[in-house]
Amino acid sequence: MATHFLSLKDFTKEQILNIVSLGLEIKKNTKNKIFNKELENKTLAMIFEKSSTRTRVSFEVGISQLGGSGLFLSSNDIQISRGEPIKDTARVISSMCDLVMIRTYEQSKLEEFAKYSSVPVINALSDSYHPCQLLADYMTMVEFDKTDNPKVAYVGDGNNMTHSWLLLASKLGFDLNVATPKGYEVDSDVLDMAYSFAKSSGSNIKIFNDPREAVRGVDVVTTDTWVSMGQEEEKQKRINDFAGYLVDDKMMSLAHKDAIFLHCLPAYRGQEVSDEILEKHAKTVFTEAENRLHAQKGLMVWLKNFN
Ligand code: CP
Ligand code: NVA
Repeated sequence: MATHFLSLKDFTKEQILNIVSLGLEIKKNTKNKIFNKELENKTLAMIFEKSSTRTRVSFEVGISQLGGSGLFLSSNDIQISRGEPIKDTARVISSMCDLVMIRTYEQSKLEEFAKYSSVPVINALSDSYHPCQLLADYMTMVEFDKTDNPKVAYVGDGNNMTHSWLLLASKLGFDLNVATPKGYEVDSDVLDMAYSFAKSSGSNIKIFNDPREAVRGVDVVTTDTWVSMGQEEEKQKRINDFAGYLVDDKMMSLAHKDAIFLHCLPAYRGQEVSDEILEKHAKTVFTEAENRLHAQKGLMVWLKNFN
């Protein structure tokens, strides 16, 4: 059975750090124009049920830099959209391709696909998790020297990004403050899982309702859109309910004076983050975006070696 990358919960601290280190090494080589063709002649199927800029570009460019090729499959254009079962699609695609990445809604669809796939399946975002993003985020923390016992604050919606931060922090053992408005809390199952991983890793996970309390003194502040893909109809209600959660100068000034700001992007200026903060922290935020490319090359090579 292939090893898949569906959620950080299935990986050890050592494995996560190995993937990030591999990504950093590949990034260094890429900057020196050294391209090791470690996935020569391999094909990555890329199934998208939702929009994407970073994920699509980083996977497609990434596999090509590794000597392979990417096959973009919009779910509207394949038979899944006409009702072909996931288990049949998985068996067909994995008989012809060497890796599959999927961006979808329910985590259960990824799990179903993985169950029937003979090759590794990568979660490229589901409603529950966005583990590839967290590889890039941690890589950015390494590069900006924020991995020595860091304190991170996530303020905003209790969504796929929050869940992924909870798993990363509790696996790696760093402290995480999470602030969400009432009614937008993280899933209790994910929180319980994070608390249980935190027991052995030493991570201190704290939940707040006041974002200002959460960011006080931290080394990394992060947020995400208040309106994730699929929630467009709730947009106005969400904007009202998230009042007070804008990361602006005033909010950032409560963090450590050298704190960095991270955002997975796309960002909605004036909602979760002010234009000033995004521009002031453009160096970290756009390095984080670029790191999707290198972290996922690390992931694909790691999966190839592991499987
Ligand atoms: N951060 C991220 O996944 O961006 P895209 O939706 O553009 O892929
Ligand atoms: N939470 C956002 C992340 C986008 C990269 C969404 O799911 O739309």
